[in-house]
Amino acid sequence: MIASRGVRRAVEFLPGFLYHPIRHRRGVVDKLTVLITREQIAAKVAEMGKRITADFAGEPVVLIGVLKGATIFLADLARQINLDVSFDFIAVSSYGNAKQQSGEVKLMKDVDQSTEGKNIILVEDILDTGLTLTYIKRVLLAHRPKTLRVAALLDKVSRRTEPIHGDYVGFEIPDEFVVGYGLDFAERYRNLPDVCVLESGSETR
Ligand code: IMP
Ligand code: MG
Repeated sequence: MIASRGVRRAVEFLPGFLYHPIRHRRGVVDKLTVLITREQIAAKVAEMGKRITADFAGEPVVLIGVLKGATIFLADLARQINLDVSFDFIAVSSYGNAKQQSGEVKLMKDVDQSTEGKNIILVEDILDTGLTLTYIKRVLLAHRPKTLRVAALLDKVSRRTEPIHGDYVGFEIPDEFVVGYGLDFAERYRNLPDVCVLESGSETR
């Protein structure tokens, strides 16, 4: 866990798509480089919303967001779906350090409404190994939804260990650690409007 004490500089948006380095503790600097811009995200999310609207053709859908990373994506996606939409949220914890999954997933918060007989779209920020969504799908399927689909903004296909795929995927990305647009590193950077690659390195001066 990185101490937020000693933050000396806020994130600034610079031309050239490079965020200002963040010195969050002596000797360590976070370097953030934009991978997917807010304009690219907006265009893709609009496309995904159109597809969902067409696929469910007038039927109601329940978007179930995986807290907390999916909240920003869910908020934008929901406004691009022209159907009777309701929201619910689920929270899981996975053990391991901030950048590495341990493989164990635990349910921390279940949905509020029954999913039985409903069209469910599970909304997640990123599909990585697939462990999290495989676990959540199993939990939700036990309640017999009418349909269950997965919408993921990002997909690190090369990292997958579970046989799971997204039905609606925004962007396939390389095996880099990314933050922004809901995604965090130790709870930071969720508020960045772009998806950025995070590298933590030594301070050079
Ligand atoms: P999976 O269970 O390995 O598919 O991991 C999914 C979860 O890991 C996501 O919901 C994220 O919380 C987290 N995660 C995986 N890759 C990244 C990343 O590059 N940045 C931030 N979080 C990530
Ligand atoms: Mg997450």
